[in-house]
Amino acid sequence: MSVPKEIKKVTTNTLQKMKAAGEKISMITAYDYSFARLFDAAGVDIILVGDSASNVMAGHTTTLPITLDQMIYHAQSVVRGRDRSLIVVDIPFGYYQSNSEIALASAVRIMKESGGHTVKLEGGEEIIDSVRKIVSAGIPVMGHLGLTPQSINKFGTYVVRATEKNEAEKLKKDALLLQEAGAFAIVLEKIPAGLAKEVSESLSIPTIGIGGGKHCDGQVLVMHDLLGINNEFKPRFLRQYLNLSELITGAVQQYIADVKSQDFPNDSEQY
Ligand code: KIV
Repeated sequence: MSVPKEIKKVTTNTLQKMKAAGEKISMITAYDYSFARLFDAAGVDIILVGDSASNVMAGHTTTLPITLDQMIYHAQSVVRGRDRSLIVVDIPFGYYQSNSEIALASAVRIMKESGGHTVKLEGGEEIIDSVRKIVSAGIPVMGHLGLTPQSINKFGTYVVRATEKNEAEKLKKDALLLQEAGAFAIVLEKIPAGLAKEVSESLSIPTIGIGGGKHCDGQVLVMHDLLGINNEFKPRFLRQYLNLSELITGAVQQYIADVKSQDFPNDSEQY
């Protein structure tokens, strides 16, 4: 089963069709033009301009410090590298939690200034008014439940969420609320596979898992983890497809050696 080839640009409708057809959705993060261009050309369905930029691009220990202006800068760069993929942009911490007017203003800035196609917000019932408001303004919203990194100070740990009945019940309720509020998809982060399966089967919109197991309608990974740029982070849910940090270190060490030995540049590498 696959989505018709005439669908060139991925839209939220494409994702809906993919879920209906049982075709899994691929999503990866990107934060700049060059990687976005490679991922888009490789055929990924969704590129997420994640607030994980706060960690992997800026070196912070959490996603909390990144600003809306900084997210817009990353999203603008990603959009320039895109031809086909759907671009989802995280609204960062502090720019939607207080009320729905502020949430809408943040979403509008992202859409107007970056050219991204949709926004992503973390949380369920607590932010449902904001989701409704943003959707009613014509801006597609992706939800995010389970381990929501913007709430790390409430959780106190990055362990698997919703292993207890109360939290699992709340997550199921939140997923339905997000769907009713008009969300087009929901990220399920680091929750038991059985719960993710139940949620995925109960919704008509797609779920995208990161540590949510194989029954989600799609999967997302942070590019630095997938490509092995950051070798210190090895959670159980991660499949590392490349050891880029080793390749980069080797290449740069060779360059340094060539400069020191005066092998580089040679006669054909000069004017
Ligand atoms: O910011 C991010 O990269 C994310 C993914 C982990 C889903 O939200």
